[in-house]
Amino acid sequence: MDRKPWNEPYLTDMDLRSFIAGHFWQILASISILYVARKVVLYHRLRKFPGPPLTGFTDFFHNKAFIGGRCYEWYTHASETYGSIVRVGPNTLITSSPDVWTHVNIKPAYKRSNWYYRALRIEHGRDHIFSQTDNYKHGQRRKQMAPAYSGKENPELEPAIDARLRDLLNLIRSKYLSTETRVVPMDLAKKVQFFTLDVISTIGLGKCFGMLENDTDVSNYAESSEKGLHASGVAIGLGFGLIAQLPWIGKFIAPSPKDCTGFGKMMGTCFRYVDERAAKPFDTPSDMLASFMRHGLTHEELRSEALEQVFAGSDNTATAIRGSLLYIMTNPRVYRKLQREIDEAVQTGISSENSSRIVSYAQAKRLPYLQAVIREGIRTFTPAVNTFPRDVPPGGDTVIVDGKLVFLPGGTCIGYSGQAMHHDKAVYGEDAKSFRPERWFEKDPEKLAAMIKTNDLVFGHGNWQCLGKPVAYNEINKIIFEVNVTGNPKALRTIRNLTNVFVVTEKF
Ligand code: HEM
Repeated sequence: MDRKPWNEPYLTDMDLRSFIAGHFWQILASISILYVARKVVLYHRLRKFPGPPLTGFTDFFHNKAFIGGRCYEWYTHASETYGSIVRVGPNTLITSSPDVWTHVNIKPAYKRSNWYYRALRIEHGRDHIFSQTDNYKHGQRRKQMAPAYSGKENPELEPAIDARLRDLLNLIRSKYLSTETRVVPMDLAKKVQFFTLDVISTIGLGKCFGMLENDTDVSNYAESSEKGLHASGVAIGLGFGLIAQLPWIGKFIAPSPKDCTGFGKMMGTCFRYVDERAAKPFDTPSDMLASFMRHGLTHEELRSEALEQVFAGSDNTATAIRGSLLYIMTNPRVYRKLQREIDEAVQTGISSENSSRIVSYAQAKRLPYLQAVIREGIRTFTPAVNTFPRDVPPGGDTVIVDGKLVFLPGGTCIGYSGQAMHHDKAVYGEDAKSFRPERWFEKDPEKLAAMIKTNDLVFGHGNWQCLGKPVAYNEINKIIFEVNVTGNPKALRTIRNLTNVFVVTEKF
């Protein structure tokens, strides 16, 4: 037999090309068969789960909904049509069942899905707590960060929120009060966003952005954050979410703190604020960054976490406040009842009319109707509604869905159908889609407990529950108490849900 000399390649380029040319149709047919076989296997794995047509074969409809900014509406429609666990892609399920979602979030073997969370990285190749998909590393980081959020190590938290709320009240009183002879319109949605951005920069970066003081989107932070969220939503929807993380492409397309505009510019400013704070002492219990440093975050980690907080902590809280205020304003019955409770609180000294003193969080929590209004506000206009996907552990898992045992195959992706869950008639009754704070005075203790448990899922659960929940509640309580809203608001017109954050682009 003829053998090639040892130093000649066994298969030359020419051999390969002529092999492909000679067997082109066979190769094409084999690839097609493999492709179809893979589709059939994938379809078969989750065939028992109902869902919108063709979602068993293609991710097209899921991706389209994601890019469109109204994915939560598609999810809601799917959950209401097909049940509490629905297939929305060949390997993707969503659930509106509070029990299933609670289970998924406390069973340690579930993990965050890469396709969604990795795409939430802000810096090229670097994770922050929200994008971390490795359970061990995530748990370690959470331990380092939790004390700062609990307020125990951060006595400056509440005074900082009070100071920013005072800025908001001063702005309204000095510039936007209407009189009998002149109406002064004000874009409340924008001012609320300025408020939450000023709060998060004060507590998370050690320095206030100054949006309220200047009554403008300083350095276009809000605009660049909206653009960044839009870009990452589109990238995820097109299946390119992970491209920015590839070593040879990522560093050219990811935003850089050296950029003069947009997201990168915002990164640069946040990093500068963090650097200034890190240069000061951090050995006494004081603010958030000091607590992170005491718990061992390196300088680079500190920068990433501080930057991530600006996104995690501003738009969601602004949405919760806007939604609640909108419902209060458009429901005169609720408005009058709430105003009466607040007036009585002021008269009985629970709070003070003195404009320089803001109601304390502890005092606000004692007002039952205010608490009902807040729960109802975040329920009716849920701020974070999709999808927070998790991977089912490799061996699969059995969950209880509507009283029946259901097996979820290993590696399946399962996410959250938030709006359907929080508008579920089985939990909240026939008028589940309406804003009615009185439902929170439910007499049946079992029913009330189920409602509270479901409502608490607005902030996630278990291993990944929102760390900023106490901060958000603090802000929402104070602003609703202090801002006396009246007027004739226009309907919200342009709302998009970008990478899970609501963006309202017209005033109300
Ligand atoms: C109404 C306002 C808010 C809502 C509805 C909300 C909702 C959520 C949800 C659902 C999660 C869980 C995500 C998951 O399961 O992967 C989460 C995580 C998180 N939130 Fe919030 N959030 C709000 C405000 C805030 C604020 C004000 C801050 C910061 C001060 C914050 C910081 C965080 C952080 C750091 C995480 C990541 C926790 C982890 O990965 O362990 N959030 N949030």
